[in-house]
Amino acid sequence: MPMRLQRFLARAGVASRRGSEDLMTAGRVRVNGRVVSELGARVDPLVDVVEVDDRVVTLASKPTYLVLNKPSGYVTTMSDPQGRPTVAELVPREPAGLFPVGRLDRDTTGALLFTTDGDLAYRLLHPRFHVEKLYEVTVEGSPGRHALDLLESGVALEDGMTAPARVRTLDAAAPARIEIAIREGRKRQVRRMFAAVDHPVLDLHRSSFGPVTIRGVALGEYRHLSSGEVSALVRATEEESR
Ligand code: URA
Repeated sequence: MPMRLQRFLARAGVASRRGSEDLMTAGRVRVNGRVVSELGARVDPLVDVVEVDDRVVTLASKPTYLVLNKPSGYVTTMSDPQGRPTVAELVPREPAGLFPVGRLDRDTTGALLFTTDGDLAYRLLHPRFHVEKLYEVTVEGSPGRHALDLLESGVALEDGMTAPARVRTLDAAAPARIEIAIREGRKRQVRRMFAAVDHPVLDLHRSSFGPVTIRGVALGEYRHLSSGEVSALVRATEEESR
């Protein structure tokens, strides 16, 4: 994406925006070998070669990874034609290429990853690599052993049987609280699974996505992933592919 040269220099860490303008007007900045001193000049980081005092400058292109604790009422999209609140309002504007990894329903809360790393996002979403997602679910009534066994071994949905899941009762008193871990990511899957065993979902929260937990992050807040978490996500997709 083309951008103003002084912004490019600032993003690359050469100097502040103002300091970068000074470098330009002093004739110390070249683009494709030619001195550029007009402050309106634009460059395309992907094609133009920028030099300051004869040293080539590049943008640090380290990908960004963060996890948002998505509140209820926000649509998982970066822009909504219907003007509803979107998760884009809750994450930083920069870098520009940040997008959500998969989606949570409007009424679902919890862990939603964002990244600029298209390759990892693809692997995390691809059915072949699907990593485990953990949900805390409040349901109508109190599922008995039979319903829990069905959820665990596979229930028939209109798009086919679900793959094996792990299920644990957190609080059996109605409305019961159940933890379920699934590796698939079909549309409204958890809601449909519980509806299929006659315990409709009242509240759905994703507490973790693979090795990344949302514990300790307030609703509507986000945190950047540690490099250890990023490596663990990469490893999770590698384990799945074996
Ligand atoms: N399953 C659902 O039904 N909804 C979500 O948002 C996520 C998983």
